[in-house]
Amino acid sequence: MARRYNRAASGLSEQLKKYPRHVAGLRLTLWLLLLSSAAEAGLYTGSDQIVALSPDNVKSVLVNSSSAMVVEFYASWCGHCISFSPTYKRLARDIKEWKPAVDLAAIDCADENNRKVCVSFGIRGYPTLKFFNAYSREDSAGQTFQGLPHDVQALRHHIIDLMEKHQDPWPPACPPLEPTSQAEIDILVETNSIRHLALIFEDATSYIGREVILDLLQFENIAVRRVLSTEEELVTKLGVTEFPSCYLYSPGGNFTRLKINFEARAFYSYALQGLPGVVRSGKSTPATTNPISKHTEDLWRHFNRSRVYMADLESTLHYSLRVELASHPVIAGEALTSLRKYISVLAKYFPGRPILMNLLKSLSSWLQDQTGDQVSYQALSEILENSAQAPDTALPEGVRWVGCQGSQPHLRRYPCGVWTLFHLLTVQAKKSGGSDPKEVLSAMTGYVHNFFGCRPCAEHFENMAKESLMEVKSFSEAILWLWSRHNHVNNRIAGALSEDPNFPKVQWPPPDLCPACHTVKDNGDHKWNNQQVLLFLQNFYSAEQILTDYLEDESEVLAKQKVKLQQILEAQKRVGREAREITSPHNLPPPTQAVVEEEEEEEDEAVGDEEEEAVRDGGAAAGGKTFEPTPWARGETKRQNIRRPPSIVGKKMRDAQEDIVDLDSFVNQHHKAKAVQVATSSRVKQRTLQRNREERDGLGLVGPEPEFGSDEAMRVQKRELSARFGGGAGSGRRGSWMSMLSIGFSKVDVSLCVILYVLSSMCLLAMYLFFKTRLRLRRVKVSLP
Ligand SMILES: Cc1cc2nc3c(=O)[nH]c(=O)nc-3n(C[C@H](O)[C@H](O)[C@H](O)COP(=O)(O)OP(=O)(O)OC[C@H]3O[C@@H](n4cnc5c(N)ncnc54)[C@H](O)[C@@H]3O)c2cc1C
Ligand SMILES: *[C@@H]1O[C@H](CO)[C@@H](O)[C@H](O)[C@H]1NC(C)=O
Ligand SMILES: *[C@@H]1O[C@H](CO)[C@@H](O)[C@H](O)[C@H]1NC(C)=O
Repeated sequence: MARRYNRAASGLSEQLKKYPRHVAGLRLTLWLLLLSSAAEAGLYTGSDQIVALSPDNVKSVLVNSSSAMVVEFYASWCGHCISFSPTYKRLARDIKEWKPAVDLAAIDCADENNRKVCVSFGIRGYPTLKFFNAYSREDSAGQTFQGLPHDVQALRHHIIDLMEKHQDPWPPACPPLEPTSQAEIDILVETNSIRHLALIFEDATSYIGREVILDLLQFENIAVRRVLSTEEELVTKLGVTEFPSCYLYSPGGNFTRLKINFEARAFYSYALQGLPGVVRSGKSTPATTNPISKHTEDLWRHFNRSRVYMADLESTLHYSLRVELASHPVIAGEALTSLRKYISVLAKYFPGRPILMNLLKSLSSWLQDQTGDQVSYQALSEILENSAQAPDTALPEGVRWVGCQGSQPHLRRYPCGVWTLFHLLTVQAKKSGGSDPKEVLSAMTGYVHNFFGCRPCAEHFENMAKESLMEVKSFSEAILWLWSRHNHVNNRIAGALSEDPNFPKVQWPPPDLCPACHTVKDNGDHKWNNQQVLLFLQNFYSAEQILTDYLEDESEVLAKQKVKLQQILEAQKRVGREAREITSPHNLPPPTQAVVEEEEEEEDEAVGDEEEEAVRDGGAAAGGKTFEPTPWARGETKRQNIRRPPSIVGKKMRDAQEDIVDLDSFVNQHHKAKAVQVATSSRVKQRTLQRNREERDGLGLVGPEPEFGSDEAMRVQKRELSARFGGGAGSGRRGSWMSMLSIGFSKVDVSLCVILYVLSSMCLLAMYLFFKTRLRLRRVKVSLP
């Protein structure tokens, strides 16, 4: 996923280069406007998993829907609605897995646009909850909830009651909710059609069985049924004495009791969803061996799922600082403040290796020293690459994902690393005893807001921050805040395309990882033991627990850095040399040189290693090693090369004014070069398009992101247009050709040339017009009778 987001981000940066800055500024403002207006509308945001109804979608959502719908009619000014909204949001998270059977929606009747809809449903008081059957007709008014319960459990039970009374047609995704019998189970066992069968024994008044049935409705290879305690035959056969309790049928032919800490809904659901072979419908069964080797040549690095790896954290820093930031050529204003905070938090709390800490510290103090209101990424990257050659200072290059490996290249990786990094920092900040409990969280929100490539993620995250970040008052609360927001995200995107089937999204840590973290309320609902969660997180994300497997040796890192700096120097020399060679008149630089070179480089990249791939992930192609005056700005500079031959070339040309140019060979070269240029640029264009298409296809897209894609398409189009109509490549080169034209000719020669050219074109135009009118005249004659 990271690769998509970051490609998109770097696409934006390319655009930034081509278009005047104010255009980009405008885009940003528009985007912010959109964001704030979305946040202001009503009591719910897009992050709440509640469908927002409006006159435009009310029919398509309520009429003929394959799931039943619960709709809240509210007025955003009404106090009761405001106090009910957190409950409704919690309900949405609580029954998220039931969506295909019953979904939640809401409509703000205080919004003028929605008045008609609310009136047509006869709404007088707020909030009003209504239940609509699946496949409702257009004239259906829904069933009104009598007495609005203010707790999630009561609402959930009420919804189950309504579902049980649901008339035909039954929502197809909803499994049967009624109690099962010995006879039905005999059939299920005999046909042996399912891998797992779970029976929940309970009293008639208990809702647990039905809740678990609905919790698992999106999962395959498992069936859940409820058995009443009055079903004597089964109860005695299995010797069931406790209600509720859960028994699993195993293919061997007998039932075994499911072992869990609490006989409660959440614990059953956790355990059943995690059974071997149980997968979300539509997700492939997780492969057990080497899932990644199919797609790339990378080796799967074995790791312990209950540990944090330094390799992931260093990879995250590499990606964040060298790739994600690189798509911001100039960092100014609020973004610069955020960057300062982010780097300062890293320098203070990141428990890294000495070489990396030295680098983070020098980067942080450099940033604090910048008194201007902006810094260029170029300047920042010189610090990143340690071009001052301070001893024992380096940011390891490239990515090596370990605990964040995905079963496919587009899954997990960078976003997984970002979460891990920030959880770690909240825990480290508490240990170090800073002064501001919100320091890390505000650094994170700032980074996410300004730089995180996944814009929809950033938007969701900001919604959450706006809602509750101000409640954080201590370091412990900061740790728990981030933990619980991460769980909200896990809840929201469980089952999304971006979910790795090998790493299903669960409310974390699951009971098998931290049994003490889970407990139950008096009413039997699940409850986190926050004190235990805090202890667990502090241990899980403690510096001592971080594993250093798969890390590159410090000495190797330093040696590589040296080689890189050496290459930079050589490249600079070479550029100088080539520029000198160019001064010889018969060696005019074919303008396509840079483009051709790029092509070769790309072919090299195809066989590159994972590190290079990661850089490409960010849309910034790996830096060319030979033709780059400043390889730090990776990729970006290369494109500049194409657009503008190095400026030294121009200077040398002017020095060589005395040389005489052979006009024929010049014209020849000029045209040949033009032809090659056109051919290559169209090839490059095709490739860009194709790559863009691949990106879009290969990516697990989640949530409402169509704008994302179309935006990108627009960008591609614009890039093409500007290439064709001289915005980019053409104009720069034309400038230098013009200056070359003047070599060896007097101004009079040139102007004569121009006059002749204009005259001949006018002549051609006249001939064209002449023949055209003649043709028209002929046609008119023909059409006469
Ligand atoms: C700020 C932010 C917002 C995002 N928003 C979206 C979004 O809106 N839509 C979307 O599709 N993707 C979003 N993502 C990406 C998504 O959250 C995952 O990072 C990505 O899908 C990779 O998932 P993963 O399986 O590696 O686990 P991740 O969720 O990335 O978790 C990484 C590791 O952290 C640990 N962990 C898991 N849960 C918790 C927890 N609650 N507390 C502490 N540690 C935990 C686990 O060890 C886990 O392996 C966002 C990422 C970030 C950083
Ligand atoms: C609802 O679905 C039925 C059958 O699928 C169809 O005949 C009917 O036209 C649909 N009505 C609307 C309003 O879409
Ligand atoms: C993984 O780490 C946990 C926690 O440190 C440990 O208890 C467990 O034995 C480890 N598992 C493996 C397979 O090493």
